[in-house]
Amino acid sequence: MTSDARLFAFATALTLAPFASLLGGCESDGTDGTSPTPSSSVAPSASTTTSPSATTSSTTDAGSPPPTPPATAGNDQTPATGDAAAVKAWLDTKAYTKWACEPTPHPRRTGSGHSANRICSNGLLSAHGAGEYPVGAASVKELFDGNNNLNGYAMLLKVKAGAAESFYWYENIGASVIANGTGDSGSAKSVCTGCHSGAGANGQSGHDFVFTQVK
Ligand code: HEC
Repeated sequence: MTSDARLFAFATALTLAPFASLLGGCESDGTDGTSPTPSSSVAPSASTTTSPSATTSSTTDAGSPPPTPPATAGNDQTPATGDAAAVKAWLDTKAYTKWACEPTPHPRRTGSGHSANRICSNGLLSAHGAGEYPVGAASVKELFDGNNNLNGYAMLLKVKAGAAESFYWYENIGASVIANGTGDSGSAKSVCTGCHSGAGANGQSGHDFVFTQVK
């Protein structure tokens, strides 16, 4: 209960800008998962609602321009990219639930910046061995609030060869878009990539920025 409440508080904290300062500790303290300070303030409604045409502008660091992610429609194996509403609409189709999925939600793992969750790997990600994932490898993580209700998604998609910038990163909690774009700019870079660079290091599972490969 206490733990759930804390996770929910953290998920709520994730909705509050600026994210960079909130999660800045994950790079140096990526193993205990406690670096972000849970916020007690709850935003019950869409305080940072993103309109379909506004894409990610509300989530980028102050002063930096919004990322201009490549826009693709997606298909059964590939999440949509581009407009945040289009990405969310693709996730809401639940096409990813036909991928290799963890059977049930689980509490966040050690070092995770997420709440309770369930991860699905697409065919390319699931089947891949060691080394860099191929373009098209994707993972969707369903995020759950303290009452075990689905309240968001995290998604990553390999869009080209390379490191953090070679992935497209998206996350929402309710109507708040936390990241939407490739890992070379904006909140995708400042929030997601530092922590995910720890995949496969210091006792963490995974490799190439991906912690969990569901087979
Ligand atoms: C503080 C560290 C941390 C931060 C910050 C973080 N993640 Fe994660 N993420 C993890 C860990 C650890 C896992 C593995 C499982 C878990 O959460 O229980 C994970 C899992 C995932 C997965 C499932 C695939 C995998 O790697 O296992 C996706 C997709 C994902 N994160 C996306 C994101 C996005 C998008 C962001 C930025 C908005 C982000 N993450 C920020 C630590 C982090």
